Amino acid sequence: MGSKKEEVRRKHIRLHMESTLTARDKVGVQDFVLLDAYTSESAFLDNLRKRFSQNLIYTYIGTLLVSVNPYQELGIYTLSQMELYEKVNFFELPPHLYAIADNAYRMMCSELNNHLILISGESGAGKTEASKKILQYFAMICPMTDSLQIARDRLLLSNPVLEAFGNAKTCRNDNSSRFGKYMDIQFDFQGIPVGGHIISYLIEKSRVVYHNQGERNFHIFYQLLEGGEEELLAYLGLERDPRLYKYLSQGHCAKESSINDKNDWKTISNAFSAIDFTERDLENLFGIIASVLHLGNICFGVNHQGCATIPVTHEIKWIAKLLGVPPSVLLEALTHRKIETQTEEVLCPLTLELSVFARDAMAKAVYGRTFTWLVNKINSSIVNKEFTKKTVIGLLDIYGFEVFDKNGFEQFCINYCNEKLQQLLIESTLKAEQAEYEMEGIEWEPIHYFNNKIICDLVEERHKGIISILDEECIRPGPATDLSFLEKLEEKVGKHAHFRTRRLAGPKGRKRIGLMEFQLFHYAGVVTYCTKGFLEKNNDILYRHLKEVLCTSKNSILKECFLVAELQNRRRSPTVGTQFKNSLNSLLEILISKEPSYIRCIKPNERKEPSRFDDFLVRHQIKYLGLMEHLRVRRAGFAYRRKYEHFLHRYKSLCPDTWPHWQGPPAEGVERLIKYIGYKSEDYKLGRTKIFIRFPRALFATEEAFEFRKHQLVAKIQATYRGCLERRVYVKKRQAAIKLETHWRGVLARKEMERRKWAVRIIRKFIKGFINRHRPLCPDNEEFVVFVRKKYILNLRYYIPTNVLDRNWLVPPGILENASYLLWKLCRRNLVRKYCRGITAERKALMQQKVVTSAIFGGKKEGYGKTLNQPFANSRLDEGDINPKVLQLISNEKIQYGIPVIKYDRKGFKARQRQLILTQKAAYVVKLTKIKQKIEYSTLKGVSTSNLSDGILVLHVSPEVNKQKGDAVLQCEHIFEAVTKLAMLVKKENIVNVVQGRLQFYISPGKEGTIVFKTGPEERIYKDKNGQLTVVSVRMKS
Ligand SMILES: Nc1ncnc2c1ncn2[C@@H]1O[C@H](COP(=O)(O)OP(=O)(O)O)[C@@H](O)[C@H]1O
Ligand SMILES: [Mg+2]
Repeated sequence: MGSKKEEVRRKHIRLHMESTLTARDKVGVQDFVLLDAYTSESAFLDNLRKRFSQNLIYTYIGTLLVSVNPYQELGIYTLSQMELYEKVNFFELPPHLYAIADNAYRMMCSELNNHLILISGESGAGKTEASKKILQYFAMICPMTDSLQIARDRLLLSNPVLEAFGNAKTCRNDNSSRFGKYMDIQFDFQGIPVGGHIISYLIEKSRVVYHNQGERNFHIFYQLLEGGEEELLAYLGLERDPRLYKYLSQGHCAKESSINDKNDWKTISNAFSAIDFTERDLENLFGIIASVLHLGNICFGVNHQGCATIPVTHEIKWIAKLLGVPPSVLLEALTHRKIETQTEEVLCPLTLELSVFARDAMAKAVYGRTFTWLVNKINSSIVNKEFTKKTVIGLLDIYGFEVFDKNGFEQFCINYCNEKLQQLLIESTLKAEQAEYEMEGIEWEPIHYFNNKIICDLVEERHKGIISILDEECIRPGPATDLSFLEKLEEKVGKHAHFRTRRLAGPKGRKRIGLMEFQLFHYAGVVTYCTKGFLEKNNDILYRHLKEVLCTSKNSILKECFLVAELQNRRRSPTVGTQFKNSLNSLLEILISKEPSYIRCIKPNERKEPSRFDDFLVRHQIKYLGLMEHLRVRRAGFAYRRKYEHFLHRYKSLCPDTWPHWQGPPAEGVERLIKYIGYKSEDYKLGRTKIFIRFPRALFATEEAFEFRKHQLVAKIQATYRGCLERRVYVKKRQAAIKLETHWRGVLARKEMERRKWAVRIIRKFIKGFINRHRPLCPDNEEFVVFVRKKYILNLRYYIPTNVLDRNWLVPPGILENASYLLWKLCRRNLVRKYCRGITAERKALMQQKVVTSAIFGGKKEGYGKTLNQPFANSRLDEGDINPKVLQLISNEKIQYGIPVIKYDRKGFKARQRQLILTQKAAYVVKLTKIKQKIEYSTLKGVSTSNLSDGILVLHVSPEVNKQKGDAVLQCEHIFEAVTKLAMLVKKENIVNVVQGRLQFYISPGKEGTIVFKTGPEERIYKDKNGQLTVVSVRMKS
C-alpha cells in the first residue's frame, strides 16, 4: 500500500519534472548557474522577468533561492505541493521555497546540526510571507505525535498574534513587519517539531503616536475596534470608528480595502485561547491597547502661565480605570515633571509641547513594553521545557531595507540592520567561499564584490561611528539638538565616502539634501535621513514621574513591565541605538553558529500590483542584493564542500575499500571512494582538507546511493540484531534447560543420597546386627536376626531334602540351630511319613528284612553299606533250580528261601557246591538230590560271620544233637540277604554273631576248627599250614 503510494508520488514527480524541464526551455532557466551569459545583468534580469511573466516566481542560484513577490495568490502553497516537495532532492523539482525548507530540515535530521533560513529583501518583497509558508511547511510535513500537536499549533498561531501587534500598513507593504523577528523552531531527534523560541528586535514604537500619510498604526488597534465584541468595547470605553482616534487617523487610511480587520480579529481571538492567554490577561492587554487610544485623544490646554493643562475628560477617567492608577496622579504626571534637588523633590509644570511629548512617550513606552511582554508570554507557551537535546531551524524575518520620502531614526536602524545582514551574507558566502578556495589550494580566479563592511563601520564603530556620535550628543551637557548632532557628524565622519550632508555635497547634490538631513550610501542605495527626532528617539525618555505612576499600576501586565527596581537603578540605561547595535551583534552570533540557507526576496514594483515588473526597480535590487556576484562565485565554484573526514564518514559505506573502516588518510579514502562511485574529473576538486563538488547533481546522486545503501545496511543490522535476539532467547532457554537439568540432577542425587543413606543405615544395622548376632534379642540385633531368619527360611526352600535318603540340609546360622533342627526334624518326619505312606506291603516286608539286616550288621561288617540299596530277592533259587527229590523230601515244609552256597568240609576245608534252602523249621544244605545236612532252628546255636567283606557264614549247631554233623561252614554271595532271611526264620534274638579276626567252630564232639579272617590284596580262601581256614578279603574303600 505504502509503496504503491510512493510509486504514484514518484511518477507524479517525474511528470512534473518533464513538464517543467520543457517549460524551462521556454521560460528561461530555473537555476541561474545554467545561464549562458552569466556575467550579464541584463540576461539575469531577462530570465527573472521571463519567468515572472509566467508566474514562475522562484529561481535558484545554486542553492540560494531568488523569490519575486507575485502580489497574487498563485496556488503554489497547497498541501499537494508540500507533499510533492517532501523528501525530494531539490534539483529534481522546480525551484520552490519548500525545497529549501525541506533541504534544511533533512540536513538537520541527518546531521543533527542547527540550521538557519535567512530571508532578506526590502520591505514588501515577501519575507514575512515566505517565513510563514516555511513554518506551515514544517508543521505539515514533519512527523507528529498527538502530544506535540499542541506545540505545533501554538507555533503556528503565535504568528498572527505577533503580526497583529507588530505589523502595520506602510506605503511599501500593507502588512509590514515593524519589528525584527528571529524564531527558532526546535525539533527533537526524530525531527518532530517540539517547540520554539522567538526573539524580537526593536519594535517601531514611534508608529504608536505617529505615522505617515497613507500608513496605519499597528493592526491590533484597528482589529480591536473593528472586530471587538460590543461588551468588550464598552468595557474599554471605545467607539468602533477608528477615525475618532487621533493615533489611528493621521495617515487617512484607517479603513483599507485590502485589509480585513474583522477576520484578523477572529484569527487572533482563537490564537489567544490556544496559546494560554487567560481572560484576565486579555482584559489587561486590551486595557492597555485601549488606554493608548485614549491617551492619544487627551485634549491639552494652556493656562495663563503658559503651562499645559488637561481637563478631566472621560479619556483620563478611562485611562485611569484601565491602567489602575488614580486619575489625579495620572493628570499630575502628564503635566508636571519631578525635579529632584538635594533635599527635596519639586514639581515643575510642563509646557504644552513637553506635556504632549510626555504623553506620547508614555504611549510608546506602554506599547513597547507590552509588546515585549507579549513575546515573552508567547515564548513561555511555545518553548519546549524538556532538557532533551534538540536541534533547531532558525527563521529570520527582519524588516527589510527601507527608503521613504522622509526617513527617520527607525529607517536608520532598519537599514543599519540590513547592512549587517548583508555583511553576514558576504562573510559567509562570497568572502568565506573565496577564502576557502584559496586556503584549500583550489585554483581560483578572485571575483570582485562590494564589501559593505565600510558602511557598517561608519554606523557602528566605537567612538567613531554614527551611533557613538549620537550617544555622545545625547549625554552631552549643554543644549544638544538634532542640528548639533548633524554638525558633529559632519565634523567627525564628514570625510567618509559613504556619508554626505547638504554642506558636504557639491553644488549638484545640494538641492536634494535638506538642511537637517544627511545621506548614507548604503549597499542598497543612497538614503537621505532627516535628523529630526534622532536624539529624542535615541534617548527614548520617559519622565521619571510617569514611570513612577506606571509602577503603581494595578494592571498586572504593566506591573510586570514597569518594575520598581528600575526606578531605584540610577544608572542611565543604554540608548536605543546602542541597545539595537548590541542586540544585532548577538543576533549575528546566533546566525553565524548555524548552517545557513538563503532566500533573497525581490519586489517587482512599488505599487503592490501583480504581473508588473519594474525593470529599474528589480535591477537595483539584483545589484544591491549582490546576486550577480553570488552567481559568479557559484558558477566558478562548487556547490558543495565537505571536510574529507565528514564526507568519508557519511559515504564510506558506498565503497568496499572504505567500508567499514578506512585506515589511511581520509583524503585518500575519499579519492578511492569517489573513483569507485564514478565521479568524473570535472565534477570535483580535492582541496587540502576538503572535497569540493561542483554540481549538486553529483552530490544528490551520491546521497541517493547512500539512501539505498542505508536500507541494505539496515537490513543487515536488523538481521544481525534479530540473530542476536534469537541467540539471546536460545541462550536463555539453554540456561533454563541447564538449570532444570541441574535441579533435576540435584533431585535425583538427593534421592540417590537418601537411598545410600538408607543403605548405609541398613548395612550398618546389618553389621551391628551381625556383631551382636549372638546376644539375646535386643534392638541392636533384632532386625538382623529377623533378616537372617527370613533369609535362612527363604533359602532353605531350595535345599529341602526330597527323599528320606537325602541327608543334605542347609547349614543354619548359630542362632537358628535350634529352629533348624526342629525344622529338619519336621521335614524328616514329613518325608518319612510320606515315604512310609508310599510303601507297599511287599516292600514293607522287604524293608523289615533290611531293618533286621541293619540290626545285625549295621556298623559291624564291611560291605554292609554297599548292599543297603540292593533289594533283597525273595529267593535266589527258583523251583526249578531245586531238585524235585529234594522238594519231595521237604514237601511238608514250605520253602522260604534258597541260595547256592559253597560248603567247606570241616576237616579238609574242601569247597563243594551246595544249595542252602530255608524253610519255616529248618535250614537244609542240599547236594543235588540229597539233603546233606538238616539244621532245625531249635538246634541252631548261632550264626557267625566275619566283620570283613567275605561271604563266610557259619551255622553253629549244638553238639548235643548227634544227628548233626557239626557246624556248617558256608560261603555265599548274598551273605547279608541270606543271614537276614535265616535270622528272621529262626526268630531268636542275637542269633547272629559278627566276629573279628577268627572264629571257632565245632567239627565233632571235642573237636573244633578255626577260621582266620584277614585282609589282603586279593580274595582267597585256603587252608593254612596250621590247618586253619584262612579267608582273605580285600579291604573295602569306605
Ligand atoms: N509568495 C507570495 N504570494 C503571494 N503574495 C505574496 C507573496 N509574498 C508576498 N506577497 C504579498 O506581498 C505582501 C508583502 O509581503 P511581506 O512578506 O509582508 O513583505 P516583507 O515582509 O518582505 O516586508 C504580502 O502582504 C502579500 O500580499
Ligand atoms: Mg515583513
